[in-house]
Amino acid sequence: MAEIGKDIEKAASLLSSGKLVAIPTETVYGLAGNALDENAVLAIFKTKKRPSFDPLIIHLGDIEMVKEYVREIPEELALLAEKFWPGPLTLLLPKKKVISDLVTSGLDTVGVRVPRHPLTRNLLQTLNFPLAAPSANPFGYISPTAAIHVQDQLGKKVPYILDGGTCEVGLESTIVGMEQGQVIIYRLGGISVNHIESVVGKVLILPQSSSNPKSPGMLKSHYAPRKPMVLGNLDELMIKHRQKGTVFAVLTFNRSIPEVPADLQFELSPEGDYDEAARNLFLAMRALDNSKAEIILAEELPEINLGKAINDRLRRASAK
Ligand code: TXA
Ligand code: MG
Repeated sequence: MAEIGKDIEKAASLLSSGKLVAIPTETVYGLAGNALDENAVLAIFKTKKRPSFDPLIIHLGDIEMVKEYVREIPEELALLAEKFWPGPLTLLLPKKKVISDLVTSGLDTVGVRVPRHPLTRNLLQTLNFPLAAPSANPFGYISPTAAIHVQDQLGKKVPYILDGGTCEVGLESTIVGMEQGQVIIYRLGGISVNHIESVVGKVLILPQSSSNPKSPGMLKSHYAPRKPMVLGNLDELMIKHRQKGTVFAVLTFNRSIPEVPADLQFELSPEGDYDEAARNLFLAMRALDNSKAEIILAEELPEINLGKAINDRLRRASAK
């Protein structure tokens, strides 16, 4: 099993010698390796069982460091960086040659993020290379929002997990890029569409495509529990499954269901707070996936604030 601790020097020394370390970020835990070391990059793909066509994002300590690895930052994206970095924003920027095609799966752009979790910020400030880090989950499964989640799934494959507590945002970063002067959101995430649009005006949200996706985070079925999950009108779903005699669990935004046992339900935010709901989402999906239920029944949130991104994850988790 992996050692879990808060030792930044230990993490830095492992990473400098080409090893992988799981790192906390404000969004989800990442499986990090030296982005300039092709063997470390290959190890990330292998450890996650991630297909090589799905590019990695790189993490850096500040925007000055970012400029060493990208050819330019278009004005609109620079405004977003200024406003939301450090934070849950990933920008797709034209890469310099020093970033290997292995990282970007052959694309000319590289996803870059300056995370704001203090432990990982300190770590990045001490390193002289960027960290490539996808979410620290096996490909396709729910992203980890606590060190123990990483231990449960990848503990046998990584030497060290840097423990930064529970992730504050709980959803992956929002991915933004530009094509022909148009700002595009490629993945909904921890920064809401409203917040992005308050800085750069109307953006295009790329509809999910399942054939030859440009960004496999956009694959329809993703972030999924092992148990079947069904999204819809919860009251109708519960009636149907009660009649069938299925043992079901329920995932709600802000209501509790008196007739369902407490260990078979998860209310994302009793107060109806979208940030709290986001923080709890993956935790809830994991808990219900590990419950005795045969199936998870869930309902969508209003498409307000982070409700949009939460619904995106719920839809992908329930896609067949
Ligand atoms: O919040 C996050 O972004 C977390 C933490 C650890 O930073 N990381 C994360 O990485 O979610 P990952 O690999 O699980 O998701 C990154 C997504 C993938 O779906 C990938 O396809 C897409 O970003 N991506 C990366 N580089 C890209 C590029 N150059 N063009 C289009 N999509 C890209
Ligand atoms: Mg991921």
